[in-house]
Amino acid sequence: MSASAAPAIRARKGDGTPLVMVTAYDTPSARIADDAGVDILLVGDSVAMVVLGYEDTLSVTIDDMAHHTAAVSRAKPKAMVVADMPWMSYHVSREETVRNAAALMRAGASAVKLEGGRKRLEAIGAILDAEIPVMGHLGLTPQSVHMLGGFKVQAKEFDAARALLDDAVALAEAGCFSIVLECVPDAVATMVTEAVPVPTIGIGAGPRCDGQVLVFHDLLGFSAGRQPKFVRRYADLGTDATAAMARFADDVRAGRYPSEAESYHFVSVAEETPVTGLYQVASA
Ligand code: KIV
Repeated sequence: MSASAAPAIRARKGDGTPLVMVTAYDTPSARIADDAGVDILLVGDSVAMVVLGYEDTLSVTIDDMAHHTAAVSRAKPKAMVVADMPWMSYHVSREETVRNAAALMRAGASAVKLEGGRKRLEAIGAILDAEIPVMGHLGLTPQSVHMLGGFKVQAKEFDAARALLDDAVALAEAGCFSIVLECVPDAVATMVTEAVPVPTIGIGAGPRCDGQVLVFHDLLGFSAGRQPKFVRRYADLGTDATAAMARFADDVRAGRYPSEAESYHFVSVAEETPVTGLYQVASA
């Protein structure tokens, strides 16, 4: 069984080693995360906000998601690639749902993720019938931002927690191989994790999930503005990148860049060397 396939991820339930998932939206971010040894690369529809500058995730289309999924899969990662089904790609009809899930698989995903509980069981069944593994997503489901009234912690009261638990059990029974729990109280995430036979992967859901996921740009310090309290920054690359750019700008303006060694010189055709290293992405 390939370690990056849905059954292998499903089999990690209760093995004592938490699953590590991180978002990736392009080839260099996929390489960085894969070289670090993460288990799952999520081509999240958060690409809308993190990379494309939208206010929410509703603007990205299936074509956008396929484009980013293909870029991630071109890194040939060892990690499993899961692609988000964007808003309105699994809401209209069974046929459209399956066609859209297939587009993400053809772009290089090994599974798709979609948001919602019992009301998405028909869509989940249709995708599974097409032999495509499905990851669920409960709690704060950003595609429902207008129904939820904003990006808020969910299931804070007993009835909502009970409903979320019932949703999680239904998703697992329907055949989801894993479930993301986003922004729910840790006690609710613990209860769900103990109740379902598939791994839960938390984000803002406390330490007792079967795995954790963070957004690439949040984790590395590329995101601007106030971050939610569950975001732990492991680097401050945004600040480092701006400082590096400022040094480049200073060098250009002061005539220090490029140097003689960084320039090509007039030589005979026999001595001409090929241009190597042009436009290479990180760790290529
Ligand atoms: O799109 C995304 O990044 C996600 C994660 C927050 C789980 O769905």
